[in-house]
Amino acid sequence: MKGMHIDQIFYGLIEQRGPAKQLADLDKICFESDAMSFEEWLKVSNTFPIIVYAWQDDDKANPRGIAVVRYAAGISYLYSVAVIPEARRLGLGQRMLQKSLEIAKEKGCLEMQAHTRTENEASQKLLAKNGFKVIQYVPDFYDDCEDGILWSKLL
Ligand SMILES: CC(C)(COP(=O)(O)OP(=O)(O)OC[C@H]1O[C@@H](n2cnc3c(N)ncnc32)[C@H](O)[C@@H]1OP(=O)(O)O)[C@@H](O)C(=O)NCCC(=O)NCCS
Repeated sequence: MKGMHIDQIFYGLIEQRGPAKQLADLDKICFESDAMSFEEWLKVSNTFPIIVYAWQDDDKANPRGIAVVRYAAGISYLYSVAVIPEARRLGLGQRMLQKSLEIAKEKGCLEMQAHTRTENEASQKLLAKNGFKVIQYVPDFYDDCEDGILWSKLL
């Protein structure tokens, strides 16, 4: 995405059922191996998650990044934060995470949790930079048996 600049990126909150197709399509672009299926996203989108989109100019139909947070009983869980490869390292992940944290707090959540793959340096650094702390190593957490790391941030 040549010439993309952070000032051309806008952020919005979507709180509605049913953007599962868009979530699944974006996931396929963002994740090399473990993209979630449409059916899995359908389950998630039916639980009224907080969904923060990032788009360029007025092209809302083609999100450049997305953060999805589920919340219940005072705890929020960062289900996914993902940016299309061409738009990485511009600050989108950072801004979407900050917005998700703000909204979770507004909704009364006291904590946000997230899992990362042990090999995913970018996501670990993103969480650490935003004040998340490691609370547990979880062997075989992912379907392909990669270990996971559970992170938490008090809001
Ligand atoms: C993780 C991800 C969302 C980061 O998004 P991004 O928009 O590129 O990140 P930002 O530009 O906002 O960077 C914010 C911070 O994240 C960290 N970071 C981001 N990409 C990184 C990389 N490739 N290597 C190391 N640290 C990285 C840095 O701490 C960075 O802060 P800095 O710029 O001051 O060093 C993006 O790499 C991605 O979509 N990866 C694939 C999907 C994924 O693995 N999601 C996480 C699942 S939990």
